[in-house]
Amino acid sequence: MSAMVQKLVAFQRGEIVRHLQCLSAGDRRLRFGTYMTDGAIENYVRGISFARDKVFGIHEYDLTLSGLAHLALDSERDAAELGLSVLPGHRGRGYGYALLTRARLHARTLGYKKLYMHCLAENQVMIHLARKAGMTVVTAQGEADAHAQLTDATYGDLAHEFIGDQIALVDFLLKQQARWMPRSL
Ligand SMILES: CC(C)(COP(=O)(O)OP(=O)(O)OC[C@H]1O[C@@H](n2cnc3c(N)ncnc32)[C@H](O)[C@@H]1OP(=O)(O)O)[C@@H](O)C(=O)NCCC(=O)NCCS
Repeated sequence: MSAMVQKLVAFQRGEIVRHLQCLSAGDRRLRFGTYMTDGAIENYVRGISFARDKVFGIHEYDLTLSGLAHLALDSERDAAELGLSVLPGHRGRGYGYALLTRARLHARTLGYKKLYMHCLAENQVMIHLARKAGMTVVTAQGEADAHAQLTDATYGDLAHEFIGDQIALVDFLLKQQARWMPRSL
């Protein structure tokens, strides 16, 4: 079964901070292009505008936020920029790709025409994911820029997104309830 990707909301900022602070120094550099202290991560998350941007997450059975995508939306440039992270113990299961395709679908249904991802040229996993998603990757001076021209959304895309959101919400609620069930049942 593919990973359940849920839209996150502003009151989940604490979870987002905890997720990003679980990344190693090396992963923080891959994610942000520079080393980020715990304090810098807190500032970054505090600065996310949930009214403008969209944030997506994948939760484990114990509700750990194992995967995160921040889709930064720039309506003036008609462009969406995506940043991804998956906790080390959960990599290689398709979470990164699921977050990328979910965020891309959302950018399309909002009518955005361009999707960008920026990473270090050494980030072969991210470059692989971008190419797998049909993005063009240009590498120069130690950095890699991936971009894709987004096609117009269809009614099928809208239905896909709507139904996906409902299923992800039910999945999250079931995981939440499971935490309260007596373990001996
Ligand atoms: C990039 C990242 C989000 C990927 O998450 P993930 O959940 O492991 O991604 P997926 O499981 O969907 O896909 C990983 C793919 O990389 C491939 N891969 C693994 N190691 C690789 C390597 N050294 N070179 C090329 N591809 C590699 C896997 O085979 C898999 O591809 P496949 O599904 O086609 O077989 C995760 O590694 C991460 O958080 N890295 C640190 C932060 C970062 O780099 N963020 C990106 C910058 S925005």
